[in-house]
Amino acid sequence: MSAVQPLLMRNIEPADHDALAALWIRAWMLTLPQIRFDERELFIRERFHDYAQPPRHARVACNEAGQPLGFCLIDTNLNELEQIVVAPEFWGKGTAEAMLDDARCLSPDRLILTVNRDNPRAIAFYRRQGFVETGESVSPRSGLPLLHMEWRAALTP
Ligand SMILES: CC(C)(COP(=O)(O)OP(=O)(O)OC[C@H]1O[C@@H](n2cnc3c(N)ncnc32)[C@H](O)[C@@H]1OP(=O)(O)O)[C@@H](O)C(=O)NCCC(=O)NCCS
Repeated sequence: MSAVQPLLMRNIEPADHDALAALWIRAWMLTLPQIRFDERELFIRERFHDYAQPPRHARVACNEAGQPLGFCLIDTNLNELEQIVVAPEFWGKGTAEAMLDDARCLSPDRLILTVNRDNPRAIAFYRRQGFVETGESVSPRSGLPLLHMEWRAALTP
């Protein structure tokens, strides 16, 4: 799948935080309505600060008008994709794939992630992108089942 419009990937700036926190809440409340993500706004705002310096990276995908369509957080020490989120109105349009390609530039050999088992859309996306399941656990915070997944460049045809 290719992006429907040219996307610019850049580092998240403090001026982006309000819009991206709102985007994150909106996307997640649609994905897992059983969790009050609106009550977790502080969590994601702290994450923006925690990922402002290497080896952590906070990246936003914008369209030509400069509108943020989604963002991701990557820890290149852990090779971890900590967050990836796209505004719901842009789901299925290649934004997530473009962000993952950007994450793979930062962590070219391997990426690991944790996803809620009750998130079939994200799991289908990751599988399509070559991630495989490596384990399971339970979220200590929500009590929901989690899936651990990994992508390795060496295993990608
Ligand atoms: C996860 C996310 C980044 C993926 O971006 P996206 O643009 O929706 O991804 P895509 O549309 O490219 O891929 C989703 C796939 O799931 C499929 N899908 C959609 N709903 C599904 C469902 N209920 N069950 C199974 N597959 C589903 C889609 O058909 C698509 O697969 P296809 O392209 O092979 O047909 C985005 O949905 C999002 O921001 N979700 C909320 C936050 C989130 O879940 N982040 C990841 C947490 S680890």
